[in-house]
Amino acid sequence: MNNVIIACDFENRKVLTDFLKQFEGKSPYLKIGMELFYGEGPDIVREIKDLGFKVFLDLKLHDIPNTVRKAMRNCAKLGVDIVNLHAAGTIEMMKAAKLGLEEGCEGERPLLIAVTQLTSTSEEVMNKELLINETLENTVKKYALNAKEAGLDGVVCSPLEAKMIHETCGNDFITVTPGIRLASNSKDDQVRVTTPELAKELGSDFIVVGRSITASENPLDSYEYICEVFNNGK
Ligand code: C5P
Repeated sequence: MNNVIIACDFENRKVLTDFLKQFEGKSPYLKIGMELFYGEGPDIVREIKDLGFKVFLDLKLHDIPNTVRKAMRNCAKLGVDIVNLHAAGTIEMMKAAKLGLEEGCEGERPLLIAVTQLTSTSEEVMNKELLINETLENTVKKYALNAKEAGLDGVVCSPLEAKMIHETCGNDFITVTPGIRLASNSKDDQVRVTTPELAKELGSDFIVVGRSITASENPLDSYEYICEVFNNGK
C-alpha cells in the first residue's frame, strides 16, 4: 500500500508532465491543488486519472451546503480518489458534500476528508485573527468530531495531531498529514512540521509531501526514500 501523496503544486501542465517523466514505471499518488486546477481546468485531472494515477483533489471547498453538494457531484464525476473541504463550513455543509459525491460517483465514492486548521496557522494567529478563543488542539479535535458526525472519512491535520485524532474519532478515521519535511529541509511557510519517520510513528495514515520532493535535487530519490521509511511495514 502506497500512502505517500506527492503535492503537485505546479504552475501548469508542462511543469507537471516534465516532473512526472522521472516517475516512469511508478504510480505515485498525486495531489492536484488549486494552482493546477484553476490554471488548467478539470481536464488536467481527467488526464492524470487516464494515465492511471490516483488523485487527491485538494480544493478545500467551503460555501453554502447546496453549492458544495453540486460542486462535489462534479468532483466525483472526475473519478478522483480523495477530495476535501473545510470543516469550518459546518456539519450541514459536510453532509451535503458527501451526498454530492454519492450522487456524482460511478464506482466507489471518493474519500471525503476535512481540513481542520491549516498547518500554516499557529495558535496565536488562530486566537488573534480568527477570534477562536480555544487551544489549537481543542479546535482541531472539535472540527474532527464534527467531520465524523457528518459521516466524513477523515481529516487533513498535522502529524502531531494524528494520535489525538485517532483517540478522539477512532482508528479507522483517516488522518492525511501535510507539513512533512526531511530533517535536512527548510520549513518554508509551514509552522508545524514533522519528518516522515515521525509521522509514521505518530500514526499518520497518508502523508502529503510537496517541496521535500518537488524542490529536491533528485525528486525520485527523495520520493523513494520517503516511501521506504513511511510505507514499510504497513
Ligand atoms: O510543499 P509542502 O510539503 O509544504 O506542501 C504541502 C501541501 O499540503 C500543499 O499543497 C498545501 O496546500 C497542502 N496542505 C497543507 N496544510 C493543510 C492542508 C493542505 O500544507 N492543512
